[in-house]
Amino acid sequence: MAERVIPLVDERHGTFATPLAVFNPALQIRPNGLLSDTLGRPLNDLRISVTDRCNFRCSYCMPKEIFDKDYPYLPHNALLSFEEITRVAKAFVAHGVRKIRLTGGEPLLRKNIELLIEQLAMLRTVDGEPLDITLTTNGSLLKRKAKALKAAGLQRVTVSLDGLDDAVFRRMNDVDFPVADVLEGIAAARDAGLGPIKVNMVVKNGTNEHEILPMARHFRGTGVVLRFIEYMDVGATNGWRMDEVLPSADVVRLIGQEMPLVQLDPTVAGETAERWGYAGANGQHDPGKGEIGVISSVTQAFCGDCNRARLSTEGKLYLCLFASQGYDLRSLLRGVPSGQDTDQLLSSAIGHIWRGRGDRYSELRASLPADVGGGGRRVEMSYIGG
Ligand code: GTP
Ligand code: 5AD
Ligand code: SF4
Ligand code: SF4
Repeated sequence: MAERVIPLVDERHGTFATPLAVFNPALQIRPNGLLSDTLGRPLNDLRISVTDRCNFRCSYCMPKEIFDKDYPYLPHNALLSFEEITRVAKAFVAHGVRKIRLTGGEPLLRKNIELLIEQLAMLRTVDGEPLDITLTTNGSLLKRKAKALKAAGLQRVTVSLDGLDDAVFRRMNDVDFPVADVLEGIAAARDAGLGPIKVNMVVKNGTNEHEILPMARHFRGTGVVLRFIEYMDVGATNGWRMDEVLPSADVVRLIGQEMPLVQLDPTVAGETAERWGYAGANGQHDPGKGEIGVISSVTQAFCGDCNRARLSTEGKLYLCLFASQGYDLRSLLRGVPSGQDTDQLLSSAIGHIWRGRGDRYSELRASLPADVGGGGRRVEMSYIGG
């Protein structure tokens, strides 16, 4: 097979200059776990994308027409190695990160991902606790890998599943992948002890809204937390339209009419999902029946306490899911001026960058007229992870 020519400058992903203060020893920021941004938001959650490839072609994420065989995926030498990822993660953890989510693309496509999980599982939070290590997957390889992932130190998984009807699901993943295999993957994850398992369903009005009730009925009482996600205007390729968004309030109403729901308190600050529990005969939450979640980033933005940072496959730090540019941490890892301590520089860079953060895209979007995007060429979900 002919080698594809890799452009020297990657035009797709803009890069912010590293703040100069990073290189000034007098301005170095030492981590104390108490970092906060310009809006007072802490840094608690790191999402690491380990590949920009996926074996599915969900139209809202990697539409086939664009992500075809000629799409310029990142070349192998651009990816951070597992050692590099772990070094970056360690610096984030020292600044207060408690949860690490591995994403993609499809993270289980990255070769030997268990080895990375093993390294991350050895890190400790600023309070000396193990991290909450989780992974978002489309479930296609879970049956094969669940046991090894658990043994490596993964605590739980979140599986994306947009419907139970085989024809609808095959159409949505656009590679004719059968729903039964994903359900087997979920069962394998449960048997391996990778719980609590969450299932994320992106609701696209006009495509899969009729799958909401069957999904709710299927997962009620199984211990799996099903979450409904409003279809978002993330990236620049999915042709997003406001009329394809089904507000979460409608989802809660629809399910509640058949299976009564009561609202539950958040488990931690900065949570993406609003929680609703299935009620028992007494009208109170019945834990045996479980709960659902709704993620309403379009109709009810949750930027106010957004504590999430995102690291791309090639080592760029993104401060928002809707950012168009990231900060290149890889060049700090690989090309530090001589005589400087790389880990200290990295840590200081993360400190300066987070202190300057003011991103709150979804909140700003909500104040724009319907169907108006935020401008700029935003990064793709498959590049930055969900
Ligand atoms: P848990 O710790 O399991 O509750 O995970 P989480 O809800 O923090 O993460 P997950 O990746 O499961 O998030 C589910 C979906 O919510 C993602 O696929 C995105 O669609 C959306 N989402 C997650 N984080 C953000 C965010 O920071 N901003 C916006 N706008 N959407 C987000
Ligand atoms: N809107 C909402 N969620 C999305 N995801 C991907 N693209 C979108 C979008 N446009 C989420 C899906 C998937 C995860 C990887 O990202 O939930 O599970
Ligand atoms: Fe792949 Fe997940 Fe994107 Fe679908 S949503 S194309 S499964 S990364
Ligand atoms: Fe955080 Fe940006 Fe999502 Fe708002 S839109 S919650 S700032 S990632």
